[in-house]
Amino acid sequence: MNIPTLSEFEALERRKSVRAYAKVPVEDEAVEALRACVDEVNRTPGLRFGLVDNNRTRTPAVKLSPGMFSGEVYTCAVLVGPGDELGGELVGYFSEKLLLRAVALGLGTCWVAGTYDRKSVPCELAEGEKLWGVIPIGVEAAKTPILQRTIRSRIRAKDRADEAFVESDYPFSSLPKWVREGALAVKRGPSAVNQQPVNVVYKGGLVTMRLWKEKRNQMMYNDLGIAKYQFQVAAEAAGVRGFWNFGEDGEFIAE
Ligand SMILES: Cc1cc2nc3c(=O)[nH]c(=O)nc-3n(C[C@H](O)[C@H](O)[C@H](O)COP(=O)(O)O)c2cc1C
Repeated sequence: MNIPTLSEFEALERRKSVRAYAKVPVEDEAVEALRACVDEVNRTPGLRFGLVDNNRTRTPAVKLSPGMFSGEVYTCAVLVGPGDELGGELVGYFSEKLLLRAVALGLGTCWVAGTYDRKSVPCELAEGEKLWGVIPIGVEAAKTPILQRTIRSRIRAKDRADEAFVESDYPFSSLPKWVREGALAVKRGPSAVNQQPVNVVYKGGLVTMRLWKEKRNQMMYNDLGIAKYQFQVAAEAAGVRGFWNFGEDGEFIAE
């Protein structure tokens, strides 16, 4: 394969929401790798992600809101899963796996729940299913217009302090390195309107996560799943492999 491949952690470090795309198709090998990842994700009961590939015809894979995005994408992931809170979390977790795969292949991505035309993506829902959002996947424009640069820097300026991401009886600096790295990866990850609603809870040697905002919305469950995936990748890069139990009280089980 002559397309770049980064490690998952390198992709996590490089990822940012790309809102300016070049009108360039994604290479066939990259589309194949993405399709393989979608197939793998869809082995999880209830998940029914799709991949729109219009690279041959060069017709936009999704109609993105022109006020937010510039350029075009010919590839797009369609995130369908159960419509309840646990479904939202599962969609979040596995969407981040797919999104980081795309970044590792050198592509630009953005999690989009709102600023697109839902009718522009092929999607028939069964009872109980929900279209949670889409991930445009394309080649980042060489130059990002000022509007899209401003959107990101304004929204990221509201980042919380590193220490705010962990609830523990110990100060942030004395936490195990893998917990600190995991929490920093949660901060670095995408969240709806950069609300950063997920905290890492480290108590009695156990790691869980908590939605700390009083007012809830459905996208926070996507954010919870995304945070779990981000944490897991960073913990592993820091030497601790593990997996998550899903649900709000689900623990991280170190292997
Ligand atoms: C569940 C979810 C929904 C999102 N919806 C949108 C959206 O509709 N439009 C958009 O431009 N960005 C959307 N984003 C991207 C966030 O705004 C972005 O992740 C956040 O501002 C942090 O910036 P970064 O991803 O560049 O680090 C969404 C992200 C998540 C996780």
